[in-house]
Amino acid sequence: MRFALLAAVLVPLAATAVVAQTNVIKDRQAIMKDIGDQTKVAGAMVKGEAPYDAAKAAAIFKTYTDGAAKFGALFTEGSNVGETKAAPAIWSDRAGFDAALAKFKADVAANVDKVGTEAGFKAAMAAVGEDCAACHRAYKLR
Ligand code: HEC
Repeated sequence: MRFALLAAVLVPLAATAVVAQTNVIKDRQAIMKDIGDQTKVAGAMVKGEAPYDAAKAAAIFKTYTDGAAKFGALFTEGSNVGETKAAPAIWSDRAGFDAALAKFKADVAANVDKVGTEAGFKAAMAAVGEDCAACHRAYKLR
């Protein structure tokens, strides 16, 4: 009886934990997908395939700023398993991951005021773009 009661309490708790982890994985992937979509728009402008557009440039950097602010908290304990490309190194080398994220945030913050001109935007993208690749190399599975 006592066991059944305990199980009745614990099983839903465990289910809730799984759901919560699925959500942080989905949430962080949605943030990165937005960042990726915006970076495609940025890439077209940098390469001259699309005309420079100040409003789009501002929106791109707003997505970076907002995404970077929320992203780090979504790598909770246990969310290393599931439908995720997050590398185990995020959990084994949290300080390194946090540093890669902090560098991205700092480069976005240092460049956000430059994106109002085409030359400034291109320089800003050059500064930020390497941060994507650096973090993915160490902390994202292929
Ligand atoms: C601090 C580390 C870090 C930085 C900086 C970073 N990413 Fe990511 N990114 C990740 C991780 C980790 C994942 C995998 C998340 C998962 O699957 O749970 C990911 C996933 C992605 C995805 C796949 C999203 C999906 O649909 O699942 C895209 C696209 C992406 N990143 C683009 C970018 C771009 C573009 C930048 C730079 C503007 C960037 N990332 C910067 C760590 C980072």
